[in-house]
Amino acid sequence: MVRRVLPFGLRPSGLGLGALLLVSCAGLPRIDDDQWAWARRRDPDLTREALDGARSLYAQKCGGCHRPHAPAEYSSQAWESRYLPEMARRAKLSPEERESISRFVLGLSGKPPRAP
Ligand code: HEC
Repeated sequence: MVRRVLPFGLRPSGLGLGALLLVSCAGLPRIDDDQWAWARRRDPDLTREALDGARSLYAQKCGGCHRPHAPAEYSSQAWESRYLPEMARRAKLSPEERESISRFVLGLSGKPPRAP
């Protein structure tokens, strides 16, 4: 298990949850119009708010034990058949959380990650 090292000498004590969440989102694609359009190709009803919310949930639920893996790191087939079922169990996701996280991951899988 890899512990994330906070960059730039940030200390969690003085910063609060917002900064910690920011750090744990590193490596995940930011949702811009481009990413949103890409996600809607398989999920036409997906709103931008829903996608943003799913991204935060993902960072929170799937970035605790290891860095949050970017959706584009694996094919949608690998996510669906292997990682999502196994990791939903490990993260103890509710059915709603799993649905939301699946939309984020499957929507953005297959797109090369952007430069940070
Ligand atoms: C309770 C700890 C825990 C949580 C929470 C967790 N994981 Fe994992 N995850 C692991 C461990 C341990 C491994 C590596 C060993 C293994 O595959 O059994 C792993 C491996 C992975 C891998 C494969 C990495 C590789 O290259 O082999 C992916 C993808 C992944 N997790 C995604 C997720 C997602 C998505 C979530 C949220 C739904 C999540 N994880 C939540 C513990 C966790």
